[in-house]
Amino acid sequence: MRNRILTGDRPTGKLHLGHYVGSLASRVQLQHKYETFILVADVQAATDYYDDIKRITNNVLEVTIDNLSVGLDPNVVTFYIQSAIPETSELAIYLMNFITLNKLLRNPTVKNEIHQKKEKFKGNPPVGFITYPVHQAADILTPRATLVPVGEDQLPMIEDTNIIIRKFNELYGTTFDEVQPYLSKTKRLVGTDGNAKMSKSLGNTIYLSDNEEEVKIKVKKMYTDPNRIKKTDPGKVEGNPVFVYHDVFNPDKAEVEDLKDRYIRGNVGDVEVKDKLAKAINNFLDPIREKRRYYEKNIDLVKDILNQGTKKASEEAKETLDIVKKAMGLKYKFL
Ligand code: TRP
Repeated sequence: MRNRILTGDRPTGKLHLGHYVGSLASRVQLQHKYETFILVADVQAATDYYDDIKRITNNVLEVTIDNLSVGLDPNVVTFYIQSAIPETSELAIYLMNFITLNKLLRNPTVKNEIHQKKEKFKGNPPVGFITYPVHQAADILTPRATLVPVGEDQLPMIEDTNIIIRKFNELYGTTFDEVQPYLSKTKRLVGTDGNAKMSKSLGNTIYLSDNEEEVKIKVKKMYTDPNRIKKTDPGKVEGNPVFVYHDVFNPDKAEVEDLKDRYIRGNVGDVEVKDKLAKAINNFLDPIREKRRYYEKNIDLVKDILNQGTKKASEEAKETLDIVKKAMGLKYKFL
């Protein structure tokens, strides 16, 4: 059997360039090498948006189209909806025994999210939220995947998954291989405002679904070198979001080098740097927009892709649960 990939997204909103750089690009690149499962993580989304389930269900097709539009091929990739696979939740209940509460509370991503949501959780988050990394381990093990392309913020989830796997194997005999993260070259993309991370909640995103005009406007407003007042001031290129994006999205390396060179010497205006960046991003997004239009026009096809994928994932999940219950000795001949 080819090694398998499992990864996915919470359907809480549209995906953006940060998602592309952190995970989607790797998915596209690896899809023919590994048998790939992409989950639409609506159960996980509900650990946060339990008071706004509509927001989740409204974004299921959206997030699937985002994935398809960047070039994931539905003929080789299995797309499925998490809540349609109850076996994953059952598996998560078993897995909860193999990691401690203290370890979960030390998960830096969870800690950070609890901090961000202190208004909502009032310092006392629901059990569902604290334990979502265990459910995520169950996601990964549902198709018995070993490779997980994710952004940097998901590394603690992989670590927790491996703690669970090791404990399971120790107790019941080697059943699962440990899993590996797959990080892309650019692990994290700065926001348009210069914040270290592009994120919907910070409002510093460029969406894969933004049109040409939206991209132009967002790029025009981008944060650059704050110490550069006039175009004749020498500017800083390192860490400057405009140049970070040029490096990632502008394939014309000579143009980028020329802009950087002139920027450092104070010989180019922000307008030119940004115009060229908006063009590069729009060129990058054009084929993605074309695929999106196709899937939006053929929405029944998207539903069908999810339907077929969910059936396939369900078969895998049943097999996994069978393996798990056998390994644990949870089988009754008289039932
Ligand atoms: N936690 C991931 C995110 O917020 C989504 C996710 C859910 C996931 N289950 C997963 C990612 C399993 C990788 C593997 O983006």
